[in-house]
Amino acid sequence: MCGIVGYVGPGSSLDVLISGLRRLEYRGYDSAGVSVIDPEVGLQTRKRAGKLSVLVEELEKNPIKDAHIGIGHTRWATHGAPTDGNAHPHLGGSHQKLSLIHNGIIENFSELKSELLSLGVKFSSETDTEVAAHLIAREYDASGDLSSAFRSVVNRLHGAFTLLCIHEDHPGVIYAARRNAPLVIGFGEHENFLGSDVAAFVEHTKRAASVGQDQIVELRADSVKVIDFAGNPVEVDEFTVSWDASAASKGGWSSFMAKEIADQPQAVADTLMGRLSSDGSVKLSEFAGLDTLKDVNRIIITACGTAAYAGEVAKYAIEKWAKLPTTVELAHELRYRDPVIDDKTLVVAISQSGETMDTLMAIRYAKERGAKVLSICNTQGATLARESDATIYTHAGPEVAVASTKAFTAQITAGYLVALSLAALRQSMPQPELNELGKELLKLPRAVKEVLESVDRMRELGKELANAKSVLFLGRNTGFPIAMEGALKLKELAYIHAEGFAAGELKHGPIALIEEGQPVIVVVPSQSAPDAIHSKVISNIQEIKARGARVIAIAERGDDEVAKFAHEVFYVPALQPMISAPLSVIPLQVFALELSSAKGLDVDQPRNLAKSVTVE
Ligand code: M6R
Repeated sequence: MCGIVGYVGPGSSLDVLISGLRRLEYRGYDSAGVSVIDPEVGLQTRKRAGKLSVLVEELEKNPIKDAHIGIGHTRWATHGAPTDGNAHPHLGGSHQKLSLIHNGIIENFSELKSELLSLGVKFSSETDTEVAAHLIAREYDASGDLSSAFRSVVNRLHGAFTLLCIHEDHPGVIYAARRNAPLVIGFGEHENFLGSDVAAFVEHTKRAASVGQDQIVELRADSVKVIDFAGNPVEVDEFTVSWDASAASKGGWSSFMAKEIADQPQAVADTLMGRLSSDGSVKLSEFAGLDTLKDVNRIIITACGTAAYAGEVAKYAIEKWAKLPTTVELAHELRYRDPVIDDKTLVVAISQSGETMDTLMAIRYAKERGAKVLSICNTQGATLARESDATIYTHAGPEVAVASTKAFTAQITAGYLVALSLAALRQSMPQPELNELGKELLKLPRAVKEVLESVDRMRELGKELANAKSVLFLGRNTGFPIAMEGALKLKELAYIHAEGFAAGELKHGPIALIEEGQPVIVVVPSQSAPDAIHSKVISNIQEIKARGARVIAIAERGDDEVAKFAHEVFYVPALQPMISAPLSVIPLQVFALELSSAKGLDVDQPRNLAKSVTVE
């Protein structure tokens, strides 16, 4: 949570900071602020509660002199309400010459604050961050050495933090530190950048490097020095950002979410590219780093939110094809429940951002117990990728809208690739059968496109149901996590009650919720799915219809049976039953987007949320 950007170079720092914050706003939008240093005017700061647009208006009304060094912040509030006073940057020192921004939580702030209060320091916010600003300023005032003051203070902080600090006495340098929160360097020509992720500076440079755990950066226009918290020099690994700034812009769409839903055929195709041959065989070079895969006797998939639902779909595929016992655990539950994990366990962590703290804590815990970690991640250079034994990147491109869409379908696609590779490695199915599945997987991008070309009725339905108080979702087998994902989309975007249920669970309680007119969206399994699950769901539809539900079915093209019972049916192309799972989510994404828009809500930035959850 919170987006951070820093710039030093010959250009306009305000331009770089505001455009960087615009691209990082998905990380939090409770307040925004900037500080710049002009050698003549000194340190100048503006910050305002609300979205970035409020800060931009403030800068128009109350301009500051542009400069060649500055830091900017967009906040997702943890300590202290979203007010002007709690907005970052925070100033430190009796002359307020130091400015600091922070992403994360300083866990020992209360103890440090008491120490500072006893020394007579006055606080102007309720944040945990302000202690760091005062501590650095005081140490600097005492020693005159900003570098050592900064390093000494970061060593006193506990918890998670990315800090960026500038000081009026040193108008050519930004000090930054990273522990348990993301920080990336962007290398330019006589200019350098810092950001929470590469989106902060990708329009200026594609040369980037992730800052490692417990490291400090001294960023100047012509040099970048990285040391660890003990002061030892560190080499960083440079990488080239693989997407353009245009990929992280709306490109004419009404919202990022609308654009990202439309990006899905490409996201799925790019995730398959180079990994799936035309004969249907899968080659995951990423598995080379996991030489012990053959000995694995169980898999735990761990993730949060939408990524966990993608993991549920992957579980069905891995168990069916690779015949390996697989469970899915929410990362925050896995980490704190004393699970049995050993060196025969493969943990598969799924994350769009690769910075979700709950997921990172879970993999660290699993690694301590000897497990190997394979991650499925969408963000180059993310902490998750750095800390995993191997990473399969989903090539969905940058996902900016808070509600995850294209990352989800790409994660499921990567899950299929993992399942097929494990099956080949373990010889759990004859290779020709695996190749047939691989060939079917090649059809997925085209099928996703076809769904997108026929979603108009779901758009209308979103508008029609704008005043619904509750919408229920039912599914069975892979349709169950799809139903839960449909419900999550509706909760986070439209703020209405939505629940996803396993259709078979209905009679064990949830059917009591059904009353006259209750909308229920049912993800119907393929007619060719094994074990007659299709007819079982048709029975469920009849049971809820008899009790007054308004039934909207998502079913495979050619399924005439369902049309006899549902009030209406939305058809998706027919693929092999396991592989068709992501097709059913697309109408649900469109439905939630339209319903939210019909209510006049901001689909890209729903209330109380942030894209990247970097605190536990
Ligand atoms: O970046 P991650 O994939 O690790 O994020 C996990 C969840 O926070 C995320 O999927 C969240 O549930 C989305 N807002 C759902 O749309």
